Amino acid sequence: MPQIKAHWLRDPMDTGFERLITYLQSRVDDAVTITYGDMPQDASYHVLINGRPTPEQLEASPNLRMLIIPFAGLPAPTRELMQDYPQISVHNLHHNTPPTAEMGLALLFATASSIVPSDREFRKHDWVARNEPYPLTLLYRKTALILGYGSIGRYMAPVLRGMEMRVIGVRRREADPTHDIYTIDQLPDLLPLADVLMVALPATPETIGLIGETELALLPAGAIVVNVGRGPVIDQYALYNALKSGHLYGAGIEVWYNYPQDEASQSNTPPADVPFHELDNIVMSPHRAGAAGNPEIERMRMDAIADYLNAAARGEPVPHQVDLKAGY
Ligand SMILES: NC(=O)c1ccc[n+]([C@@H]2O[C@H](COP(=O)([O-])OP(=O)(O)OC[C@H]3O[C@@H](n4cnc5c(N)ncnc54)[C@H](OP(=O)(O)O)[C@@H]3O)[C@@H](O)[C@H]2O)c1
Repeated sequence: MPQIKAHWLRDPMDTGFERLITYLQSRVDDAVTITYGDMPQDASYHVLINGRPTPEQLEASPNLRMLIIPFAGLPAPTRELMQDYPQISVHNLHHNTPPTAEMGLALLFATASSIVPSDREFRKHDWVARNEPYPLTLLYRKTALILGYGSIGRYMAPVLRGMEMRVIGVRRREADPTHDIYTIDQLPDLLPLADVLMVALPATPETIGLIGETELALLPAGAIVVNVGRGPVIDQYALYNALKSGHLYGAGIEVWYNYPQDEASQSNTPPADVPFHELDNIVMSPHRAGAAGNPEIERMRMDAIADYLNAAARGEPVPHQVDLKAGY
């Protein structure tokens, strides 16, 4: 069995990291050694664990042949950089599919049932939402279009089908019309059917800006949009206008356009260039579905990394290799 040395480039002082790395070490085969922290003096790792490596980190070890990105998604600079290192395979984790899908569904239900505005009123002890027909959209027997029928999209589908919704999936590579799965070229024909548009797409050169004014206008009046993939897949100005005009019933948005760049801006960074926060028909979530730091989900992350390292040591295919050209 080949010996595999993996190095995790991460600050060992991060809260709880020591405990997690101990757990990870307990999960891997004897043939796997894991180090962590800054770049080791003697760099001989075969596997690097990091989402945004530098050329120096990639070149420090002549043995390096695999990069594990310890989350879902391929940052654009990493995609660009890794094209120069074709000998290093890049792998994504999909360990947080369940919490991300749960968040997508939670945003859908909260939006459809107007949970946030009625909660806000009721905190003032105002029962108006009970006695007057507060806006509410019934999902039963409606149609949901899941744009990005991958790990997250496929997880959400059976829940919606359980509500007697028709679920249409859209993928990039393969259609399967007998199961209502279509490719992206069918989108203009599918959007007018979608009472609910659930977006679970990666950000790639093909998907950024995919949903703009034209696409939102194709949705039926009163549709709901949910995005748990990446913000820039939906044009922010078009989304804002479609919400403000009332063409959309509402939206549940988890992924955004602007992110805090440092610790100091954590508590004062608007997530978009338009004032979504002024609208009542949007539920806003600060990109927390991946649930980083949640002990149960961090263990799932460690289990996934252990599976990848064990597969490498056993000479088996390592899951979820990224296609750098496609961008996911
Ligand atoms: N909110 C969060 O905290 C959070 C957490 C995890 C992930 N995410 C985001 O969600 C994304 C999806 O995650 P996942 O685990 O479901 O990924 P995945 O399993 O790789 O699925 C991606 C899906 O998108 C489809 N797709 C890609 N490009 C497309 C295009 N141009 N047109 C139509 N369909 C396209 C793929 O089609 P094929 O099936 O044909 O390949 C696949 O079905 C991640 O990349 C990440 O950006 C967000």
